[in-house]
Amino acid sequence: MTDASSKPSVLLFGGLNTYARALAAFLVPVDGEALVSHLRIVDKFSVHPPTTYLGSEFPKVLEKPEVEYQQRNLTVPSAVASAFDPPEGQAPYDYVFDLTGEVRYDRTEVIQIKTTCTVARLIGLEAAKRKVKAYVRLQLPFYETHNKGAHDEKENCKPFSTIGTWWHETLRMLAAIPDLNLVILRIGFGYGPYTDFGSVTSAITVSSVYGYMKKPMRTLWSPGKNPTYTVHVEDIAGGLWSCAEWIAPLGRTKADETAGEVIPFHNEKSKVSEVEGMPGSDEKLVAPLFNLTDDSKSTLLSVGETTTSFFGTTFEFFNFLQNAAAKWKLEEMVEDINEHHVGAWTEMITKSDPPIPNTPLTAYMDSYALQKHVVAFDNSKIKEVVGYKLRHPEFNHDVIQDIIDKWKAEGSWPNL
Ligand SMILES: *[C@@H]1O[C@H](CO)[C@@H](O)[C@H](O)[C@H]1NC(C)=O
Repeated sequence: MTDASSKPSVLLFGGLNTYARALAAFLVPVDGEALVSHLRIVDKFSVHPPTTYLGSEFPKVLEKPEVEYQQRNLTVPSAVASAFDPPEGQAPYDYVFDLTGEVRYDRTEVIQIKTTCTVARLIGLEAAKRKVKAYVRLQLPFYETHNKGAHDEKENCKPFSTIGTWWHETLRMLAAIPDLNLVILRIGFGYGPYTDFGSVTSAITVSSVYGYMKKPMRTLWSPGKNPTYTVHVEDIAGGLWSCAEWIAPLGRTKADETAGEVIPFHNEKSKVSEVEGMPGSDEKLVAPLFNLTDDSKSTLLSVGETTTSFFGTTFEFFNFLQNAAAKWKLEEMVEDINEHHVGAWTEMITKSDPPIPNTPLTAYMDSYALQKHVVAFDNSKIKEVVGYKLRHPEFNHDVIQDIIDKWKAEGSWPNL
């Protein structure tokens, strides 16, 4: 056993609705030894009573003696600053994990700036002031890469829409903070137990409905590679931890020398003077950046085939004419498409024995889920530089089974 005082103490901001619960369970497992001496989790949600889905594992993590939860409004500078004050008698925090950011794709630019850029910048500035040894920022896959091949960290990938523009801008703002021991972990599409967020979860849920209806599931998009690289939540957690352990003894200057990448400007120049803390368009900003995806090289087709075959049905493509129509009228088609499966999911919930009084899962696909996304991030660098080993290299039936078993056990998934 390691001496508790030699273990780092950790502050985890945001992400309760995405991957923070998986990270917390990784740092302080329900059964097993904690990796940290102390973990404080801070987010806008309440956990007693919960104002977001928590899953059945996380409340047990919260009961561990090492763990503390604080509900705070992270848009308020003083609330961010005081979150860094350690509990009485404890040393200052060693590592910060920044999982903050607005994940709803349809939020306006004003909201994105306020809740993604500003929040991360406040936390980053305070972390630099307090000289934390590691500040790991989680970057979600709000990019559009090309159809061909996988993209390494040197490639200039285009942010996707408003959400992508401001999540990407956040990286520049953090990179610009002097002496911040920053590492950026840029992931693929996450999936895993107790994860209601994301398009893979949506694919699993909707596939189950088509399996239940005994009908093939159809995609709007024509056959093609359409890479949508995936990553298991335990690897997101493991990757975040490994990045922190990697930079802590190095510091930012050395980390930049080894793994620094230019974070290019991808915004309108006029915004620079409007948004507080936004670096100039010609400033060359460098920060250590690592991609994290599994080895499946997932595509729309492979994910669709894996999820539908799990539920005993097939994945098909619409014919060309329907496909052309979809491109023009996606927003209008959303309701039509959902009509096919939302009712059947409700039926599955209703017929379940034992009953499902409450589930975070939905078969409703919004226009983001229905849009074509192409994101292929090469994972070689984190393996080579950090030495990261994937715990779940492949998205397959076994991991889907594990996800479903856990949802069934907590009463989130219909038992028919
Ligand atoms: C958080 O603080 C901001 C700034 O004071 C305020 O506008 C917002 O309403 C607060 N949010 C909540 C949920 O209280």
